[in-house]
Formats: sequence, structure tokens, C-alpha cells
Amino acid sequence: MTAARQRILSGVKPTADSLHLGNYIGAVRQWVAMQDQYEAVFFIPDLHAITVDFDPAALATRTRTVAAQYIAAGVDPEKAIFFVQSHVPEHAELAWVLNCLTGFGEASRMTQFKDKTAKSGSDAATLGLFAYPTLMAADILLYQADLVPVGEDQRQHLELTRTLANRFNTRFGETFTVPEATILKETAKIYDLQNPAAKMSKTGESPNGAIQLLEDPKIAAKRIKSAVTDDGTEIRFDAEAKPGVSNLLTIYSSLTGRSIAELEEAYAGKMYGHLKVDLAEVMVDFVTPLRARTAELLDDPAELDRLLAHGAQRARAIASVTLQDVYNKVGLLAPATAGR
Ligand code: TRP
Repeated sequence: MTAARQRILSGVKPTADSLHLGNYIGAVRQWVAMQDQYEAVFFIPDLHAITVDFDPAALATRTRTVAAQYIAAGVDPEKAIFFVQSHVPEHAELAWVLNCLTGFGEASRMTQFKDKTAKSGSDAATLGLFAYPTLMAADILLYQADLVPVGEDQRQHLELTRTLANRFNTRFGETFTVPEATILKETAKIYDLQNPAAKMSKTGESPNGAIQLLEDPKIAAKRIKSAVTDDGTEIRFDAEAKPGVSNLLTIYSSLTGRSIAELEEAYAGKMYGHLKVDLAEVMVDFVTPLRARTAELLDDPAELDRLLAHGAQRARAIASVTLQDVYNKVGLLAPATAGR
């Protein structure tokens, strides 16, 4: 064991106005838990957000809204380094160097790029989308991150990041920490309330399938009460036979810390309706303060921007050292300091 804490890094794109419950339980809460145990670097990859179709009128607001929700949910901008990607120019700068060390064919094999361009054809895709994975590698390598907690869909991007780190270290000398590909244990997965076969997402078929954290808590309660349940009456966790009820139990357990077994026992002999009424109340108690705190942060954008500027400053202190080292090793001529 070394004395230094491991460094953990992750990002979440500002693509929706409100986080949903699945984001919260799947990612945000994990971040909050990790900031005590690790040296945490969290950021909002707004440069990644513009690799696909985007609305310039909404982007800045979304970035602030996502930031406010993360802070409201417990990301502590003093403990964690929390910032906006475009505020730290080293991300784009290191990405360029990595672009020059990545094969065209290698980038072409990224499945996410292939999926995203399969429908519209590669003519509709931008160079930015093609370079998405190398920008992500730069995000990670700039901070010498040890661990990167992301979903399974990002595994291939992490593999590329490791490949690029090793390639650079071999060719130019030890420079980057090679981040662990071990994707942190999947915590509870939250499913769509109307279609428990699908993950809760911002693009679900019915708006009733997801709980948006910024919506009126009354709506959240209503969505729980109208969630699809299963045949039979028994309240028991069985993801195969009872996906609807199991999903409600997972949510209940995640928000209260009560184990599934404990909940099964508490609801033995009761009806689905009981579970829903109680969970609706739990949901209201959870959403109400979160929403209030987010609104408070958004009401004072100058203070929010100041917190993000503080994060960017701390981030740059690390990122600029790595980038300088990279520029030197690659052989770029260092500029003389101005003023002679
Ligand atoms: N690509 C990630 C996603 O879609 C977001 C992201 C960008 C990221 N840069 C990152 C995640 C660096 C972890 C580390 O979820």
C-alpha cells in the first residue's frame, strides 16, 4: 500500500436538462461515495457534447444545470476537483497529440463510432465524432488517473486509452499512468418504469418510464404509482419473473439503504399498491430537497460559475504539468517566456 490515495476520474455529458433517477443511482451516487475514498476528478465533457448535433442556445445552460445537480446531489467542489472540460484547454491540446499517434484504422474500429454512423452514414459524421475516443483518452491521461468508473459501453474507449498510454510511454519514455480498465462494480441498474425490460433512459418510449430529478415531486410520485407491475401479487425480488416489482424494490433499497431482503420481509403479505404508495413517499422525500438545492444553485449563476472556475484552476495545475511533459518529450519547441 502506498500512502497516496488513488486518483479516480469520470465525466458525464450535459445532454439532458435533468438527470433521471437511473443516472443518480447508477453514477452520481457512486461519485459522491468515491470522493471520500479517492482523490476524485469529475468533469462535464462539453467538448464531447458538440461532437454530435447540439443546440448552441441550450448548451451553456445545460452545462450549468448538470453541474448544479451534481453539487446538489453531494459532489463537493472542495473535496473533488469538479470542472467543465472546455475551461481546461489542455484537454483539446493533448487530444491533438494523441490524434497524431492513433491509427486511422484503429479509430475506425471503435464500435460506438460505427454504431453512431451506421444509420446516417459516415458523411454525416464529423471528424470530432471520429476523434471522440482520443479526446476521452486525453481527459483521462492528463490527470494520471488510476481508475475510471464508467459504464460497460465505454469499455472499448478505455482500452484505447490504455493502448495510447502504453504506446506513448514506450516511444517517448514513462509519461502516463496506465488507467485500470476494471470498470467499477455495477451498482443497481434502474429500469424503465413502464417497460422494465429496458434501462431507464432519457430517450425511453414513454415519459412516464423515467423520473426526472428536476421535475415536480408530485409527478415523480405519480410515475411510481403508475409503474408497470407483474402478474401475481407477491412482493419479491425476481428479475426474471417480476421485473417491475424487482425494479421498484431496487429503487426503494437504493434510496433508503434498507436491504432487499428486509424490504421483502416488511412487505410480505402486502399488495403491490402498498409498496408503491410507500415508495412514492420515499421518492418525494428524496427529490424535494435535491430539487430545492439545485434551484438555489441555479439562482446564483455567478456563485456556481465561481465554483467551476475554482475546479478548473485546480484541474489546470495538474493538466498543465502533464501537457508540458508531453510537449517536451514529443520535441515541440518550448516558447521563450515573454518579456525577454
Ligand atoms: N464518454 C463518456 C460517456 O459517454 C463521457 C466521458 C468523456 C468520460 N470523457 C470521459 C468518462 C473521461 C470517463 C472519463 O459516458
